[in-house]
Amino acid sequence: MTIPLHGADDRPGRPPLASPLFVTAEGLPLRLRQAGEEDLPELHRLDREVFGQHAYPYFALRQLYDLFRADTFVLDDGRTFHGYVMTGVNADREGWVLGLAIDQGWRGLGLGRRLMAESLRGLRVRGVRTVALTVEPSNAAAIMLYASLGFRRGEERAGYFGPDADRLIMRLALD
Ligand SMILES: CC(C)(COP(=O)(O)OP(=O)(O)OC[C@H]1O[C@@H](n2cnc3c(N)ncnc32)[C@H](O)[C@@H]1OP(=O)(O)O)[C@@H](O)C(=O)NCCC(=O)NCCS
Repeated sequence: MTIPLHGADDRPGRPPLASPLFVTAEGLPLRLRQAGEEDLPELHRLDREVFGQHAYPYFALRQLYDLFRADTFVLDDGRTFHGYVMTGVNADREGWVLGLAIDQGWRGLGLGRRLMAESLRGLRVRGVRTVALTVEPSNAAAIMLYASLGFRRGEERAGYFGPDADRLIMRLALD
């Protein structure tokens, strides 16, 4: 049970990062903020909870964080993370969405959209013009979210993440 304090969207005039997006049933304000190194264990817990066997191993998450710490955002109620997004930029200045997850009980509240909007804003400011991602072809909720942000369906790659792990590539032009 959550009580919205503000619309969790990306319209102009949205609350700044420090303002709470929601307050939890326990009265804890949910904030969107950049992740710090000390957040890695909680980030890993959430990633495992959402993605199970497809979660990043801790060492991989750690190294991605070292590369892309400026582009890692969490939804934090002060005790627990309820969502995160991580993006990175490659040598061709192409942005990649490396992880997006909202805790089961917090889905459908606009938080995934809010995290993506924050990431895309940061990438745009840094001059990134194209953003790519991969998604499981049957993941309708994620595909709808990305499509609503302007991502277009690209090629479907069989075995992209190994045997039986096909992925759909989607791309967004930020201009
Ligand atoms: C995909 C995910 C991040 C969406 O987060 P969310 O906070 O629930 O999404 P939002 O509430 O911000 O919804 C944004 C849009 O996503 C789409 N969407 C979200 N849930 C949906 C659902 N169950 N069915 C269809 N579309 C859905 C809609 O287009 C929605 O826009 P609308 O509210 O205007 O209709 C979340 O479902 C999740 O964490 N899933 C498991 C992990 C995952 O699949 N990550 C992506 C890997 S590529």
